This record gives sequence, structure tokens and C-alpha cells, in this order.
Amino acid sequence: MSTLLVINSSANTGDSVSRTLIDDAVGQFLAAAPGIKVVRRDLGTTPVPHLTTANLAGVRGTPATEEEHSARALSDLLISELRTADTVVIAAPMYNFSVPTSLRSWFDFVLRAGETFKYSEAGPEGLLKGRKVVVLTSRGGLYSEGPGAAADFQEPYLRHLLGFVGITDVTFIHAEKIGYGPDARAAAIASARGQIAKVASTFSTVAA
Ligand SMILES: Cc1cc2nc3c(=O)[nH]c(=O)nc-3n(C[C@H](O)[C@H](O)[C@H](O)COP(=O)(O)O)c2cc1C
Repeated sequence: MSTLLVINSSANTGDSVSRTLIDDAVGQFLAAAPGIKVVRRDLGTTPVPHLTTANLAGVRGTPATEEEHSARALSDLLISELRTADTVVIAAPMYNFSVPTSLRSWFDFVLRAGETFKYSEAGPEGLLKGRKVVVLTSRGGLYSEGPGAAADFQEPYLRHLLGFVGITDVTFIHAEKIGYGPDARAAAIASARGQIAKVASTFSTVAA
């Protein structure tokens, strides 16, 4: 059975644009491929801890303390969720020109040598090839064109991290100008929904 991993990262559970879009995407993916298994990870409501001196060895080192073992167990779980997924959809608001720290922490726990990437003579190699990722961003301003493009540290950063673990089939759908007023917000959501529908229309073959 194909598995869809659904990752939320907005700290807002009220009128979050990225949460609205990811719900829409999951609904459309399920309509296209009703048999898929959906696994959810909500980093906004259940954050992955930041790396500190108390837990670092659990992720990058040899765990010894209870806290380090707990970090290792969480890292193993998050990696297994990603490894098991055929398709991943990530809702990523732009926070301070990049991603929420909750999503950054998720990557800190998921990027582990020997598990999701390895080093060889040829340099780093991602070990999670073959997966498809759809990233739904929500942004107060405009970054896909114009002067704001130079300040987009979100899409390039996510592309690089995903590519580092071998995932290069990545589609970005941006809902931009959310902060420009209700009309701009509604137009951005409608546009993103249209793009989600196009991705979903190909999903039945992806999930087969
Ligand atoms: C902490 C924080 C930082 C933000 N930083 C930016 C930013 O750098 N650029 C931007 O265009 N919008 C920024 N925004 C606006 C959000 O990207 C926008 O409100 C988006 O809709 C949030 O996603 P959500 O609706 O799914 O929560 C920020 C919002 C918050 C809460």
C-alpha cells in the first residue's frame, strides 16, 4: 500500500493558510487514490525538541543518558515515517524568510549519516531516493518574482535539504501575498488550490 506522509509546521491552528492548503491537498490525493495510507506529523502542535547539549548525542553520537536515548528513539521514528512514505506533503509557512524552527528541528532529527545520507569518496549521497515531495508554502509577501526573490531562503533551503537525502522530485506550490489584505489572501489560496488539483490529478498513478 502506498503511504502519504503529511507534515504540518505552522504554529497557528486557527486560520492557518498552509494548514488549509494541506487539508485540501490530502483530500484531493485521497480522492485520486482512495487506498493510500495517511501518516500525519504535526510539528506545530507537537514540536521536535531543539538540539541541546542534553540530547545531541542521541542524534549525532552515541546515546548514553535517558534524554539521549529518547532523542535517538524520536529520530528513529521520524526517519522511519519518512522512509516508509512514497509521497510526502509538507505545509511550510515562511517565518523570517525561511522555515519555522519546528521544521528545521525535524530536519535536524532526520538527517543522520548512515540512515538518510552517507559519505563516500564521491562525497555525500542521499539514501532516500525515489520519493516525491510536495511543499505547500504560505508567505506574507511576494518572493517568487521581483525584489523579494533574493530574500527567499525557504524554497532553496528546503530543496537543498531534501536533495541532500536524495529526494529531488520536489514540487513547490506557493500561496503568496497573504499579508496584502483579504482579496490577495483569497486569490493566493484559490491559485494554490488550482495548482494542488493539477498535482492531485497525477497522483493516482504515483500512488499505484
Ligand atoms: C513568526 C513569523 C514570521 C514571519 N515571517 C515572514 C517573513 O519573513 N516573510 C513573509 O513574507 N511572511 C512572514 N510571516 C507571515 C507568514 O508567512 C504568513 O502569515 C503565513 O500565512 C503563515 O502561514 P500559516 O497561515 O500557515 O500559519 C511570518 C509570520 C510569522 C508568524
